[in-house]
Amino acid sequence: MSDKVSRRRFAKLAGLSAAGLTGSLDAAEARPAAAPRAGFPAGFVWGTATSSYQVEGAVNEDGRGASIWDKFVRIPGKIEDGTTGDRANEHYRRYKEDIGLIKELGCKAYRFSVAWPRLFPDGDGRPNPKGLDFYNRLIDELLKNGIEPWLTLYHWDLPQSLEDRFGGWRSTETCKIFGDYAAYVAEHLTDRVRNVFTLNESGRFVYFGYGIGIDAPGVKLPQAEVNQIRHNSALAHGLAVQAVRAHGRRGTRVGPAENIDACAPAIDTPENVRAAEIALREMNAGYLNVIMTGRYTDAFLKFAGPNAPKYTDAELKIISSPVDFLGLNIYAPQHYVVASDQGAGFMPLPIPKSFPHMNSDWLRVGPETIYWVPKLAAKIWKTDAIYISENGASGDDVVTPDGKIYDTDRIMYLRNYLAQLQRATAEGVPVRGYFLWSLMDNFEWVYGLNKRFGLYHVNFDTQVRTPKLSASFYRNVIAKNAAGA
Ligand code: BG6
Repeated sequence: MSDKVSRRRFAKLAGLSAAGLTGSLDAAEARPAAAPRAGFPAGFVWGTATSSYQVEGAVNEDGRGASIWDKFVRIPGKIEDGTTGDRANEHYRRYKEDIGLIKELGCKAYRFSVAWPRLFPDGDGRPNPKGLDFYNRLIDELLKNGIEPWLTLYHWDLPQSLEDRFGGWRSTETCKIFGDYAAYVAEHLTDRVRNVFTLNESGRFVYFGYGIGIDAPGVKLPQAEVNQIRHNSALAHGLAVQAVRAHGRRGTRVGPAENIDACAPAIDTPENVRAAEIALREMNAGYLNVIMTGRYTDAFLKFAGPNAPKYTDAELKIISSPVDFLGLNIYAPQHYVVASDQGAGFMPLPIPKSFPHMNSDWLRVGPETIYWVPKLAAKIWKTDAIYISENGASGDDVVTPDGKIYDTDRIMYLRNYLAQLQRATAEGVPVRGYFLWSLMDNFEWVYGLNKRFGLYHVNFDTQVRTPKLSASFYRNVIAKNAAGA
């Protein structure tokens, strides 16, 4: 939708409002709650999420080293709008204001990532104390405001030096160094951080970064190498789990944050549900399943054939070090599945072109995905703690003449997904918390500043943050601990 069109529509709406035909937002919000209905379980963790490169900016400050994204964004044509994360949300110095925004939502948890090159400018070697200082300040401020810090060790900003010296994730050397970095973080921050995510979305950064080259470091390698890199990322995850256990405060919880390849039954019949379960395991055999079970499935190895990763039993043991929870990033349905008597017993259906999506082509609207995926994942991997480590939607987000952003499309998306998540928890699926992506608009990787996922609108010229209507929606959900807000 063009800016022009939406402004014209607003003018119409404003006309109705002036005639007294529309209610004021504040009045609507103030209306007493309807009869109480079942909500989420008590103690459900409500949070929002961001990541270091996407919000921090300050890429050359206080001794931070370069990451592969700093280099990648400078390759002409890689970022849709030609922007970089150099400045992003200036969160590095505006973090107090941003924590105030989290508090306003009523969130009791915040998922952020540590920029590895801030702590170790070269990835390994001498740590940079000023980098650590920043995360100390951030964590202290969060706790001061009653917000629990949930820390991600790796959200894609690999130190460039490791890419230059070892080929990044192509080498198990990087995995070992990642383990050392994880040990350092655990040693210095888990006196206050009780929950740690290892790697964010192996499923994306490996394939996009090393397979099709549309994310940093932007290389296109043959499938065998991509599979090896995915194996290395699983190894890095396992080494980080072990490092947190060995160096963290006792009781620190650790787990992955994976963009699980999301499978759901096309139609809810026992046969299709069983097929979706098999599909979920097999489609995630290269990362989640091996992490959770310590083996690559026969179907995966058969399919990969000569491209299968090379590994040792000792590595599989490290990879499958027990985790405390499963973090799942769930946005869009990837595969609607029906039962089949062919192959492994499932058939993914083609997705019609007309399937509805949000303001990003990939972001199909399939709310039931957030019901089926945790339900099936809990069964397959026998976990009793799942966190939705990311869910959210991009929108057009036009600032109307009254200075507001009426993102009813995002609210529609969230309301439907949260209703399905509530359906899951009501059935006893062990989902313990939810992190909405994202707290505020930020640097959306290849889209640059073009795609907006935030509950708060950010004007990237002035750095002014403005709550969107969805911020009020989410505040209401949290306050009522129920999706039907
Ligand atoms: C997830 C990532 O894949 O989706 C986030 O963990 C990202 O970092 C979000 O911002 C939206 O993705 P994209 O590709 O639309 O920017």
